[in-house]
Amino acid sequence: MSRLLLAPMEGLADDVLRDVLTRVGGYDRAVTEFVRVSGTLLPARAFVRISPELANGGRTAAGTPVAVQLLGSDPECLAANAARLALLAPPGIDLNFGCPAPTVNRHRGGAALLGEPELLNAIVAAVRAAVPAAIPVTAKMRLGIADASLAVDCAQALAEGGAQALTVHARTKAQGYRPPAHWEWIASIREAVKVPVVANGEVWTVEDWRRCRATSGCEDVMLGRGAVSDPWLARRIRGTAAPAPTADEWAALLPHIAAFWRGVQAKVEPRHAPGRLKLWLGYLRRTWREAEALHAAVRPLRQPAEITALLDAQAPALRAAA
Ligand SMILES: Cc1cc2nc3c(=O)[nH]c(=O)nc-3n(C[C@H](O)[C@H](O)[C@H](O)COP(=O)(O)O)c2cc1C
Repeated sequence: MSRLLLAPMEGLADDVLRDVLTRVGGYDRAVTEFVRVSGTLLPARAFVRISPELANGGRTAAGTPVAVQLLGSDPECLAANAARLALLAPPGIDLNFGCPAPTVNRHRGGAALLGEPELLNAIVAAVRAAVPAAIPVTAKMRLGIADASLAVDCAQALAEGGAQALTVHARTKAQGYRPPAHWEWIASIREAVKVPVVANGEVWTVEDWRRCRATSGCEDVMLGRGAVSDPWLARRIRGTAAPAPTADEWAALLPHIAAFWRGVQAKVEPRHAPGRLKLWLGYLRRTWREAEALHAAVRPLRQPAEITALLDAQAPALRAAA
């Protein structure tokens, strides 16, 4: 059966948004933003901060399992941190070999390692050996740094190191987030490894999902920004929501926006809260005209109280949900 995964998105899909998106539903699994591992053994609270779901059996309130993602370059240090994380019994541990951010790459993390298949192999092998067999260890990669010439070597190195599944974001680091995603490359990787490969990149609609699966040959697909823009995308794909966005869905989303706003305010400093709502509304306006209007109204506001008042005034449904 084809699975749908919610992508890790640092600064965007934290536990608050994962809670909303998995409540709307359709996801088999989610992955946290990366926990950066560099040189020290992190305390348990560093993992719980990124994945508060760990205190709920590793699941969102709606029951979706959430794997915790680690990012680093030192096999021993990653293994020691993975062992500590394993004590918190996450449903999975994912290793990040896809992050293109310069600050991460300067410290030899994320996509910067895609030129060194032997190191990728050593990292996965060390982490796999440090973690009880019941906890799946997976990896997420891009196609390469400047080009895809080592993509298959990297994937094989990760699989042979013990990754139970690979997610492939079908772009190089140099390609950043520029469309298109090169799903045909995922097919080459899938044919070269024995473990399941999850296709990822530029799936915004049901039709994209169909084409991504047809081109990559993958059963499973990970949804990132498409999921944030359209919280019903996973259910549309499954056929349990309308095939295209509807006005009713926007009304149904308003209580979720209210819950998100409450969750964000409870979590981040007041001066950072408005930015989080604006960021999500910025994605939602790709899907609903109503979101465009709400985004425009929220954008100039700086004070959380002003935003709460605006949301209350705009939508009676929000008051009912509060
Ligand atoms: C804001 C943002 C943050 C991201 N953070 C992470 C991350 O922490 N770990 C990771 O493996 N990928 C991260 N990614 C990459 C996504 O997981 C995904 O591979 C990428 O967005 C392509 O999928 P999409 O086109 O469906 O969005 C991030 C992407 C975005 C847009």
